[in-house]
Amino acid sequence: MHQPVLLNESLEALITLNDGRYLDATFGRGGHSKALLNRLQPEASLIVCDRDPTAITAAASFNDHRLSAFCCNYSDIFDKLENNCLLNGILADFGLCSAQLDNPDRGFSFQYEGPLDMRMSQNESLTLAQLIDTTSEKDLANIIYEYGEERLSRKIAKTILERRKKGLLKTTKDLAQCAIDCYPKGSLKHPATRTFQALRIALNAEMDHLELFLKKAPLYLCEGGRLVVITFHSLEYTKVKTILNHQYDDMRHGRLPFAMKKVVHPLFPSENETRVNPRARSARLHIYEKFSE
Ligand SMILES: C[S@@+](CC[C@H](N)C(=O)[O-])C[C@H]1O[C@@H](n2cnc3c(N)ncnc32)[C@H](O)[C@@H]1O
Repeated sequence: MHQPVLLNESLEALITLNDGRYLDATFGRGGHSKALLNRLQPEASLIVCDRDPTAITAAASFNDHRLSAFCCNYSDIFDKLENNCLLNGILADFGLCSAQLDNPDRGFSFQYEGPLDMRMSQNESLTLAQLIDTTSEKDLANIIYEYGEERLSRKIAKTILERRKKGLLKTTKDLAQCAIDCYPKGSLKHPATRTFQALRIALNAEMDHLELFLKKAPLYLCEGGRLVVITFHSLEYTKVKTILNHQYDDMRHGRLPFAMKKVVHPLFPSENETRVNPRARSARLHIYEKFSE
């Protein structure tokens, strides 16, 4: 079961009005949304979206008149809002939910034997197997280096393509083995962690969607509205900081009429939370508020 990360902290930051309009851009299994609805009044509204159709099927079971659910990319959700609909708060909890990670058929985890799939939405056509089959060794190494910050990227890319050509790379366990065999024994992190992260980010164009989302989100917030995001790795964290700082500069130079200001420094889960939910350990909560000059 998915346990929502930094739940109280994120909702306290998000809710500025109990009967306001909110967006949960990464519904997942609805952990944050459920708790948010519990704290909101009957007149409030909550729009939710997820790229994964199985998440949106779960949203239907909420049976709450305040909820509208869309199966789409979060970079496209703003096109679905009614004209002039400004939001009081937007929440985004990036990455994967446990239901995706723990389902071997989705191919996200090196812990299970599964197909080389890794699509966030099974409506999309390109699978990981197809990405591997159509990418050169140099490009594969660049993906693993850029999105996994993996220093052994060249060696791992070479091993992946060699084994694939010989018919020895068919499953997630085979893929994990490629990374394991390139690593010296005794490394602290599992050797496949960075490679799996990199391939998932590339296959799903995660950084492109994240950038678009961050550029659009402030346009749909009211003055004082909050953007609350939970990141899980340094690429997401850096993207959030860079895009929002850039907007701030644009406002100072008169190129934008508004910007997002950081409300507090990023928050981390408590020791207690990471003990109960080890997947929370790399989470960071970022809280921004819209303001105009
Ligand atoms: C960490 S989970 C969210 C968990 C949720 N907060 C909860 O408590 O159940 C992240 C979710 O974001 C979705 N997601 C990832 N990238 C997306 C994108 N570009 N557009 C829409 N949804 C996305 C994933 O499918 C996944 O369900």
